[in-house]
Amino acid sequence: MHTVVVSGDGTAFPVADGQTVLDAALRNGAWLPHSCTQGTCGTCKLRVLCGEVDHGGTPEETLPATDRQTGMALGCMAVPRSDLTVQTTAVVDGTVPRHRLRDHEATVVVLDDIAADTRRLVLELDDDMQFTAGQYCELVVPGVGVSRQYSMANPPGDPRRLEFHIKRTPGGMATDGWIFKDLAVDERIALRGPLGQFGLADKQDSPVILIGGGTGLAPLKSIVHHALEHDLAPEMFLYHGGRRRVDLYDVEYFTELAQAYPGFHYRPALSEPDPDDGEWTGSVGMVTDVVLDDFASCKGMSAYLCGPPAMVTAAVKALKRRRMAPRLIFREEFTAAPVGV
Ligand SMILES: Cc1cc2nc3c(=O)[nH]c(=O)nc-3n(C[C@H](O)[C@H](O)[C@H](O)COP(=O)(O)OP(=O)(O)OC[C@H]3O[C@@H](n4cnc5c(N)ncnc54)[C@H](O)[C@@H]3O)c2cc1C
Ligand code: FES
Repeated sequence: MHTVVVSGDGTAFPVADGQTVLDAALRNGAWLPHSCTQGTCGTCKLRVLCGEVDHGGTPEETLPATDRQTGMALGCMAVPRSDLTVQTTAVVDGTVPRHRLRDHEATVVVLDDIAADTRRLVLELDDDMQFTAGQYCELVVPGVGVSRQYSMANPPGDPRRLEFHIKRTPGGMATDGWIFKDLAVDERIALRGPLGQFGLADKQDSPVILIGGGTGLAPLKSIVHHALEHDLAPEMFLYHGGRRRVDLYDVEYFTELAQAYPGFHYRPALSEPDPDDGEWTGSVGMVTDVVLDDFASCKGMSAYLCGPPAMVTAAVKALKRRRMAPRLIFREEFTAAPVGV
């Protein structure tokens, strides 16, 4: 057992043998900036001012050896070898949600095919989980000792229910090897959460643009629902991109929501519609091009982007072209786990 002290605010917390700095912090109610919790984003970079860490499986691309030699470490991968004093490098946003990370168990109550290679998984938790719209959980893949991140798609109102949208990755351990293979209703699942700092924390004065690619819709559905319930934004524009009609889902749900709330606009877009898809009345084109066509200027607006990294990068570029301030662009990238994790 070691103790970690965060320089600046003096927060201190215990870390068990083999536990990472970030895991210990979040379980003890001490907030440290983070995003992916798998060593791929770099949001959790810490400067180790005093003490030693084991970098574990830290990927070289995220934290090169030269950075490690100067005392940098990833909070989500580093395990203390002694007591530590650390300093965060990302700004600690006072408005981000701070819910204590915990292990949970749950029962599968819904497992439906909702789009091409896409499933909706609904879990009934054994005990309550408080989370903020936009956050995610790690589902423990049975028998292989790995976990994968999935964003909650439901708003936080019901603390016993979690909805996830999951896309199959060919050959993937969690998806092809479990969720799309032999997982079934009534089975038990182990998970931990909540995690992440993506989400609409405060009431917004200006319109909000949300862009999701594929199952990147999941946290945006949670955010939209929560924002409408609590009147958090004067106007919201939700874009959901897919290649063909079979890639989109919850179209009727969002169409009805847009009819019920005049300030909410839903724009599904297909990049490669097929004549077999039948009549398509939504937009056609890359979802980012559709956004560019819709707005002459995005100055003063904010955006929430989620999905494959390439889509998120393209969306950031498009919004900057339309003069959205970079500090008002928030993103969650569905990065793949590093090889061997
Ligand atoms: C913060 C966060 C939130 C996430 N939320 C969701 C979510 O709500 N819904 C969802 O469907 N996914 C989500 N993901 C992705 C998810 O965690 C898994 O990475 C994904 O389901 C693949 O896991 P797997 O074990 O099946 O594949 P793995 O066994 O990890 O991968 C198998 C092979 O496929 C490659 N691979 C994995 N993913 C991709 C990819 N996307 N594109 C190309 N190659 C890939 C890997 O590099 C590997 O070679 C999220 C990821 C992060 C970091
Ligand atoms: S690299 Fe640690 S949270 Fe992403």
